[in-house]
Amino acid sequence: MKIAVTGKGGVGKTTISALLALELAAQGRKVFAIDADPDANLASVLGIPDADSIRPLVDMKALIKERVGATSEDIGSYFTMNPRVDDIPEQYGVRMGNIRLLVLGHIPKARGGCACPENIFLREMVNHALTQQEEVVILDMEAGVEHLGRGTAGGVDVMLIVVEHSRQSIETAHRIYKLARELGIVHVLAVVNKLTHSSELTSIENALAGIPVIAALQDDRTIREESLQGFGVQYTSDTKAKIKDLLTIIENRQSTKPSCP
Ligand SMILES: Nc1ncnc2c1ncn2[C@@H]1O[C@H](COP(=O)(O)OP(=O)(O)OP(=O)(O)O)[C@@H](O)[C@H]1O
Ligand SMILES: [Mg+2]
Repeated sequence: MKIAVTGKGGVGKTTISALLALELAAQGRKVFAIDADPDANLASVLGIPDADSIRPLVDMKALIKERVGATSEDIGSYFTMNPRVDDIPEQYGVRMGNIRLLVLGHIPKARGGCACPENIFLREMVNHALTQQEEVVILDMEAGVEHLGRGTAGGVDVMLIVVEHSRQSIETAHRIYKLARELGIVHVLAVVNKLTHSSELTSIENALAGIPVIAALQDDRTIREESLQGFGVQYTSDTKAKIKDLLTIIENRQSTKPSCP
């Protein structure tokens, strides 16, 4: 099962990615978590010790040069478009129990439509994870679907768009939904986060018009307050129950084929 988590900045993508990963791991499943947000913090939210010292893949210039044949500093060099990446999760992933985490780092924007070696390497890694990796994959993304090309998106079983009670997060959700559907992702589903009042859910659902909402998490003071400590996400039993339900819904959804694409 391959789950991509996206949504506007600050809505709770990383928190929900971590909660899903921790719940799956607690159920005995092997999880491959990928932090694809340039401003990476999934490691600390997961509670991985020494999270700050994890080196993002994009900074491993020697490795990228070895695999791709060049880095973006080697102007005019030839490089391969399909570098070997199958050993990267094992070699460079950080383990915590059933969870293995890979931090990608900031993917440089391609200039003038050209692909740069770092970009090729990270894209190939995401592609490999989504199409070859046997573990459950959770991809914590930035607000958008930029990491996913047409080929890669085909590997995503479920894309979760996290939204909160704000116009901006809903506008972003519509933009992402459209792009994700254009890329051919079948199950693009909204998760409402940080609800402070039940009436908010109705107005969010109305504004999301057409984007299915599959879960709604309350604003959980424990998450907010404990996040300041930086020792991994802490949460109430109510949030835990919601995450378990969310996983059940995701698993049921992804195992059903849609009636129309
Ligand atoms: N259900 C919740 N209740 C209370 N606080 C929450 C909840 N979900 C997330 N938060 C808090 O909201 C803040 C943003 O969450 P998070 O970092 O997960 O968002 P994000 O979408 O990954 O942000 P970014 O776009 O910066 O990567 C954090 O302080 C987090 O602890
Ligand atoms: Mg985040």
